[in-house]
Amino acid sequence: MRLFLALVPPPELLAQLGELADAAHANCGGRRIPDESLHLTLAFLGEVSDVQATELVDWVRRLTVPPGEWRLDGWGHFRRPGILWVGGQSPDPALTALHGHLWDALEGFDLTGRPTCFVPHVSLLRRARRLEAHGLPAPDLVWGYNRVDLVRSITHDWGSRYVSLARSPQS
Ligand code: 2AM
Repeated sequence: MRLFLALVPPPELLAQLGELADAAHANCGGRRIPDESLHLTLAFLGEVSDVQATELVDWVRRLTVPPGEWRLDGWGHFRRPGILWVGGQSPDPALTALHGHLWDALEGFDLTGRPTCFVPHVSLLRRARRLEAHGLPAPDLVWGYNRVDLVRSITHDWGSRYVSLARSPQS
């Protein structure tokens, strides 16, 4: 199964991200990612075996995540898949450290795929017709977090559906 580790937005933040996604969609077209799929990917694990998935669920249920606050104050894009995203204008040391600690542990589960660079972002549109942020409201959101989710990505012909398999305890 295909898994990733993510921050899942709390309800108030989700509503604000949804408003940004609506504004982006009205300006840039493409496919607006539905509210229930909005998240920050911390580590994309790809395909894992059932045995690995069970071990990962146990690990995440005992994982301590240092509380942090991530400021989302900029737009960005990935040209090739036409992704428009919201994220931080500058690197976030706490998220970078969390990403590094998670990958240190994931490598202990024999998982490979640690990326050389980590750009924290929340994808809002896929296959956008335009990727410039002109005309969009300037984002200014704060994401307070203290836990991560282990999420399964299930592919359908209409897109992907995400199901949380485990959550770390609130720290
Ligand atoms: P995204 O965070 O830019 O939207 C589940 O598929 C999540 O993992 C998505 O959020 C997606 O990108 C991210 N993802 C998918 N394939 C990936 C890959 N090959 N490498 C890194 N991240 C990937």
